[in-house]
Amino acid sequence: TDAFVPKQHKAFQPRSVVLSSTTTVADVPTTPIQGMKPGTSGLRKKVEVWQGKEGDKYYVENFIQSLLDTATEKNEGNVPETIIVAGDGRYYNDEAIQIICKVLAGNGVSNIWIPQGGIMSTPAVSSAIRTREGGIADGAIILTASHNPGGPGEDFGIKYNEAFGQPAGEDFTDKLYEKSLEISSFKTIEGASDIDLNAPEGTTYQLTDASTVTIIDPFKEYIDVLKGCFDFEALSKFAKRPGFSLLFDGMHGAGGPFARKVFLEELGLPESCLLRCDPRPDFGKCHPDPNLAYAADLVKKMGLAADGSADPSADIAALPALGAANDGDGDRNLIAGAGCFVTPSDSLALICDNWRAIPHFSKSGGPKGVARSMPSSGALDVVAEALDIPFFSTPTGWKFFGNLMSSKELFDKTDYTPFLCGEESFGTGSDHIREKDGLWAVLAWMSILMKANEDVAEGEPLVQVRDIVNEHWAKYGRHYYCRYDYEGVESDAANKVMDLIREEFVDGDISTILADESGIKLTAAEEFAYTDPVDGSQTSKQGLTLSFEYPSGDPARVVYRLSGTGSAGATIRMYLEKFEGDKAKHDQSAPTALKSLADRALQLVKMEELTGRDSPTVIT
Ligand code: G6P
Ligand code: ZN
Repeated sequence: TDAFVPKQHKAFQPRSVVLSSTTTVADVPTTPIQGMKPGTSGLRKKVEVWQGKEGDKYYVENFIQSLLDTATEKNEGNVPETIIVAGDGRYYNDEAIQIICKVLAGNGVSNIWIPQGGIMSTPAVSSAIRTREGGIADGAIILTASHNPGGPGEDFGIKYNEAFGQPAGEDFTDKLYEKSLEISSFKTIEGASDIDLNAPEGTTYQLTDASTVTIIDPFKEYIDVLKGCFDFEALSKFAKRPGFSLLFDGMHGAGGPFARKVFLEELGLPESCLLRCDPRPDFGKCHPDPNLAYAADLVKKMGLAADGSADPSADIAALPALGAANDGDGDRNLIAGAGCFVTPSDSLALICDNWRAIPHFSKSGGPKGVARSMPSSGALDVVAEALDIPFFSTPTGWKFFGNLMSSKELFDKTDYTPFLCGEESFGTGSDHIREKDGLWAVLAWMSILMKANEDVAEGEPLVQVRDIVNEHWAKYGRHYYCRYDYEGVESDAANKVMDLIREEFVDGDISTILADESGIKLTAAEEFAYTDPVDGSQTSKQGLTLSFEYPSGDPARVVYRLSGTGSAGATIRMYLEKFEGDKAKHDQSAPTALKSLADRALQLVKMEELTGRDSPTVIT
């Protein structure tokens, strides 16, 4: 059902072969380790857990053997032939790659592909699985904890993406978890020296008679895929236009080298447009999550205050026209214009409305379908309705978009037309791969800016991102939106908050709950469940929604979820949203506009009483 039919598998032709010393396959006894249940996006644990320092010596081996057994079972008993192993460069990346290669070889995986340097962004891995020259891969083992900090005492993670480049679904990860509780041995090889991850592209290591490691170029497939989505020639001209400049923050993650390739080598932008684009094992001690709080430097350089509103003293004409940041593994993005933060939900809606600016969409007559995760704002919904594009609301997690974007049946179309999707958690992308894509989002915005300036004469001031956003709000209304995160809450306390909402509001009688002095009234409560329209699979408990009404009659919504991407304790997320149709009221900062709603919602769910927190860790 996939629109992009990947190339037929051909045996990879190695350029050079390095034989390692004689190796033997060993079956090593082990015992099950508790707690290997992958979350929203793979298994994330503290580095020390993966290193075996917490007592479970074979943590990586157990997990990889369980993963491989699951993939083999799914593949009718055949061990996957070709697997990519790549990471975001965080602490323990290289050591884990060496261990994983040995376990894969011990199990007879024929081709193991490792990017030179061991580092690849998640979207680049997804591209390479789908289209790699010389064959496609059966899957990829990606070593990342995404936007979580790295280094000793911080997070490491492993996730599996299947053929077509898509993150493994819950059926897969549930199976993996079961197997991790039953494991009694793993296979590995003994007597092999380590692989030189920095060897030239094409270098091949013969690990066993049946198994080779090949060092591959991390960039090629991904850059080609991006070239298929955007007009690089036109963009490189626009890049040189007076008044245009870009500022890109790689947050010392895996996206940096890819940004360098695209912005410097392909589009000819100057070195000065790159911030923190050298990957570091500890991300330079930053929290590599591109939001208002953690990308504070970039936010400031874009003429913004910490809450995302324009700094009144900023000189717009002197600022970069476009600012962006990516997370640790290069799949998330933050977009800003000069003096204008674009929320991820608005970004998605604007990309949809401006599809003509993006060749990936314009060459096929626009998106065939669009989707957002449930907690994302309704900004996309109104555009989809106006443009008459089928729209879907899915649970949080990129994997839920996969079936939709691969389906032809759903849209009753035989010709290929593309798909657009995104999440409030700073993820945006399309069907060009099966992951969200940080650089894709930046290029989409650069394309939108380029088109908006098509008719602006050279020498005239550029139309700015904020002009485009203001015009959009004037046309469709503004969905004021922000998120409160309560990080590191005790799991029990977090569950109590969720239970209270479920018991008192979803299952209870809300008709007796009166508005407080703010006048904001609770009108409905529900818990989100999802049935996949393609395969009918069901997912429950995907977020609790409280609907409100202001005294003016304006509706508002607050969603509660527990994060699925943490590694310790719990993070409560509270998503706030209020629609404002009146153009004259579009110039507040979102946290200010939503403050009374937040206070009302916090009081209803007894946040402080149950968690001891009187303020969130992050507001974004
Ligand atoms: C990862 C996934 C996203 C998802 C996000 C949710 O980044 O790839 O698809 O939206 O996690 O994170 P949370 O911490 O809210 O569960
Ligand atoms: Zn990520």
